[in-house]
Amino acid sequence: MEPPVVVALGGSLLHPDEVERHVWLDQVKEAVSEHVGSGGRIGLVIGGGVPARDAITIAKPLIEDVAALDEIGIAATRLNATIVAQTLSHSGLDVCNGIPSDTTAAARALENHQIVVMGGTSPGHTTDNVAIRLAIDAKATQCIIATNVDYVYDSDPKINSNARSIESMTLEKLQEIVGPPVHGKAGGSGVIDPVGVQAAIDYSLPLAVIDGRKVERLASALSGNEFKGTRITVG
Ligand code: UTP
Repeated sequence: MEPPVVVALGGSLLHPDEVERHVWLDQVKEAVSEHVGSGGRIGLVIGGGVPARDAITIAKPLIEDVAALDEIGIAATRLNATIVAQTLSHSGLDVCNGIPSDTTAAARALENHQIVVMGGTSPGHTTDNVAIRLAIDAKATQCIIATNVDYVYDSDPKINSNARSIESMTLEKLQEIVGPPVHGKAGGSGVIDPVGVQAAIDYSLPLAVIDGRKVERLASALSGNEFKGTRITVG
């Protein structure tokens, strides 16, 4: 059996301001359908996006415990994962039933299904780390992080107008940018979760960062073709 591909789909991609959500979802469905149609298997890990941020904002003034806020974020990721799983399954694709709650179960489910969709697992990280863990457990050859920026930048482009986009870099260089593997706070992170970057280093897992709003880029990356985005190699 060919190794599966694992994709982290940032929940912010389901944000109404970013793209027309159902159009985007339909395009994702087509890209996934094409991938599995040619015999591939795929693990999709969905982020929390707007529902996560909203829910954490409501609770934050009353709850100091980061792990408790994380649990709220996890519930939102699983809601978003259910939207994606139901959409794919209702178009006749072979999707694992239910949303696995850990990456071991998800990797096992990928042995029997072409598609597994999941959200968060436990407090202390984001769904980027879940996707990287699933890629490791399912012996994927790389993990694609589909987010709402087109490249990894050498500094935050929202703050620094001179920030440079990077097409190719090592995991170690990425770690210099995202910082040490610490989960600072619930409900917010940089381009990739630093906890996940450490796991990718530990297990020598290449990553790719693409703009998931442009689904054609995801489709190219899935088919192994050239794609616009950042390739992150094992150093
Ligand atoms: P996300 O994965 O959406 O993280 O999980 P994010 O970085 O805040 O959002 P994106 O990448 O811009 O979409 C939402 C929140 O849920 C909790 C964390 O608090 C995270 O910030 N979470 C998620 C966990 O604690 N564990 C998980 O496995 C997943």
